[in-house]
Amino acid sequence: EKFPLEMHKARVVQKLNLLEPEKRLEAIEEAGFNTFLLKNRDVFLDMLTDSGVNAMSDKQQAAMLQADDSYAGSETFFRLEAAVRMMFGTKFFLPAHQGRACEHIISKSLVNSGQSVLMNYHFTTSKAHVILNGGKVEELISDRGKELNSTEKFKGNIDISILKKRIKELGSENIAFVRMEAGTNLIGGQPFSLKNLEEVSEICRSSNVTLVTDASLLADNLHFIKTREEEFMHMSINEISLKIGSLSDIIYFSARKLGCARGGGICTSNENLFKKMQALIPLYEGFLTYGGISVREMEAIAVGLEETMDEDMISQGPIFIEFMVNELVKRGIPAVTPAGGLGCHVNAMSFLEHIPQNEYPAGALAAALFIVSGARGMERGTLSEQRDENGKEPLADMELLRLAMPRRVFSVSHAMFVVDRLHWLYKNRHLVGGLEWVEEPDILRFFFGKLKAK
Ligand code: F0G
Repeated sequence: EKFPLEMHKARVVQKLNLLEPEKRLEAIEEAGFNTFLLKNRDVFLDMLTDSGVNAMSDKQQAAMLQADDSYAGSETFFRLEAAVRMMFGTKFFLPAHQGRACEHIISKSLVNSGQSVLMNYHFTTSKAHVILNGGKVEELISDRGKELNSTEKFKGNIDISILKKRIKELGSENIAFVRMEAGTNLIGGQPFSLKNLEEVSEICRSSNVTLVTDASLLADNLHFIKTREEEFMHMSINEISLKIGSLSDIIYFSARKLGCARGGGICTSNENLFKKMQALIPLYEGFLTYGGISVREMEAIAVGLEETMDEDMISQGPIFIEFMVNELVKRGIPAVTPAGGLGCHVNAMSFLEHIPQNEYPAGALAAALFIVSGARGMERGTLSEQRDENGKEPLADMELLRLAMPRRVFSVSHAMFVVDRLHWLYKNRHLVGGLEWVEEPDILRFFFGKLKAK
C-alpha cells in the first residue's frame, strides 16, 4: 500500500467543528454560495488555500520570540535577508507585506502602458496588477499544460518556440518582462522544469528581456524537480534553489506560502532593478527593513526558508495531494493528473457535465461539497476570471475545484473523509445546479461576489 507518511508529529492542535447539514446549507446561502465568504467557525476542514495556513514548526515558533522590534535596522531583518541569500544567492532583498504587494511593486516599476508581460500562466493577482499598470498578459503555457489529464511531469513549462516567436514579433522594448510561475497555481499547482527555466533565462538574456520568477509555490516545485527531473536529481534542494535564483533577474514570493508565515519579498542581484523597486517600498509597504511584515513573522519566514531546503518538509504537501488524487481516480472521480502541488484539483467541468461554464460548475461544486461535508474548497475557473473592458466574460481554460492541502495540517483520515463525500456527491451529481450572480464586483470578483442557485 502506498500512503503518505508524516515526518513530524503534532504537538499543538486546534479543535474542529462539524455542523449539521441544515446549518451548512444555511451558512453557504448566507455566504452567497461563495466559499470565501464562509465563517471559519462553520467550516470543518478548511481546504480553501495553503496561504498563511501551513503548519509552523516548533523552531519557527521559538524564533518568533527572539524577534528584534525596531522600525529601522532590525536584527530580524538581517536574519531574513541572510536566509533569502542562502536560498537564492541574490544580493538585494526588499520585504513586502505579501505576494500581491510584490506584484504591485514589480508591475508599477516595470510595466509601461501598452507593454506585454509574457508568462507561463497568469495568476489572478499577478494579472490584475499588470493590467492596472496598462500592460497586457500573454500566456504561453505549452499545450500539454492545458490537458487536464496527461503524463507530462512539468505541465507548468512555457512553450519555448512560442516564447522566441513572440519576443521577436513584439520586440523586447514592448515586453515589460517574462514571468515564470513556480507550481503554476491555476492549472492545478503544476511545476516547471529547471531545464525549461534555463532555456527561458537564456532567451531572455540574449534578447535583453527581464525574467521574473514567482516563487510563491516554489516549495512544491523544488520537490518536483528533485523527484521528477532526472537531469537534476543529483543536486541538493539548496543547489536547485540557488540555480533558480541565478537564472532569474527578479524572484518574488508570498511568504504566506513559501516560508510558512505571512509577508513576502522581492530578491534580485540587479542594482538598477533593485533601485527602481526600492523607492516604492517605503511608500506602499513600510520601511525597508520590515516592509509591512511583523518582526515575529519575519523570524518565522527566515526559519521557514531554511526548512524549505529539507525534502521531508517540502514533500508533505505533494505526497498528501498525490494520495488524495489517486483515491479519487480509483473511484472514477475526475481530477487533474499528474497530481501537482498546492492541492487536489477536481475537474468540475466533467464532474458536473450538465452545468454550462457560464453557470460556474466549479463554484457550484465548491458550494455543494461544503453542504455535503463541511469541507471548504476554492473555485478556480470562470468565476476567478475578470470581465474584459467590454464587460464580456472570458471562459476559463479549466473549471477546477481546488482542495488545498496546507502542509502538515491534515491527516490521511481527513483526506479520506473528503474523498468519501466527493464520491457520494459524484454519484448524486444530478442534485447540483448552476449559479448566477446576485452581486458582482468589478475587480477580483471571486473574492467577495455573491451568487445564488439558478
Ligand atoms: N503568486 C502565486 C502563484 C500565488 O499562488 C499567490 C497567492 C500570489 C502570487 C499572491 O500572494 O496571497 O501573498 O498576496 N495565492 C493564494 C491562493 C491566495 O490561495 O492561491 P499573496
